[in-house]
Amino acid sequence: MNVNFTPEGLMTKAREVAQGAYAPYSKFRVGAALAMGDGSIITGVNVENRSFGLSNCAERTAVFTALTQGHKDIRAVAIAGPDAWEPLSPCGACRQVLSEFCPADTPVYYDDAKGGFITSTIGELFPQDALHALSKRD
Ligand code: THU
Repeated sequence: MNVNFTPEGLMTKAREVAQGAYAPYSKFRVGAALAMGDGSIITGVNVENRSFGLSNCAERTAVFTALTQGHKDIRAVAIAGPDAWEPLSPCGACRQVLSEFCPADTPVYYDDAKGGFITSTIGELFPQDALHALSKRD
C-alpha cells in the first residue's frame, strides 16, 4: 500500500486547513487531516451554524468527505486546534464515527496546545468498542 505520510506532515496539513474553519460562534477553529491507504490526504474543518446544535466537528467533516470521495481506508488521523488551551483530543461523537472506519491501532495525532502534538490510537481513545460485527453482516 502506498501510505506516505509522516505524523508531522499530517499535523501540518491539519493546521493549515484549520485556518479555514467556519467557527464564528465559538471562535474555536479545528482542522483534521486523514491519511488514506492510497497515499492521499483528505481534510475537514469544523462547520458551525447559527442554530448551534447543527455544528459539525472537523473530524467528522473529514470522514464524511472521505466517504463521499469513495475512500474509507483511513490509516491515520491528525487534529489541529490553533485556538486550544489544552490538548485537543477528539470529542466522543467523533471517536465513535472514527471507530467505524479505523482499526483500533490507527494512530491519532492531536495538538498538545504547546506547539507540539500527542500520539494516541483510536483504540486508546475509544476503548471497549462494541458491535463492529454489525458492519460486516450481509
Ligand atoms: N470541535 C471540533 O471540530 N473537533 C473537536 O475535536 C472538538 C470540538 C469543534 C466543535 C465546535 O465547532 C468548536 O470546536 C467548539 O466546540
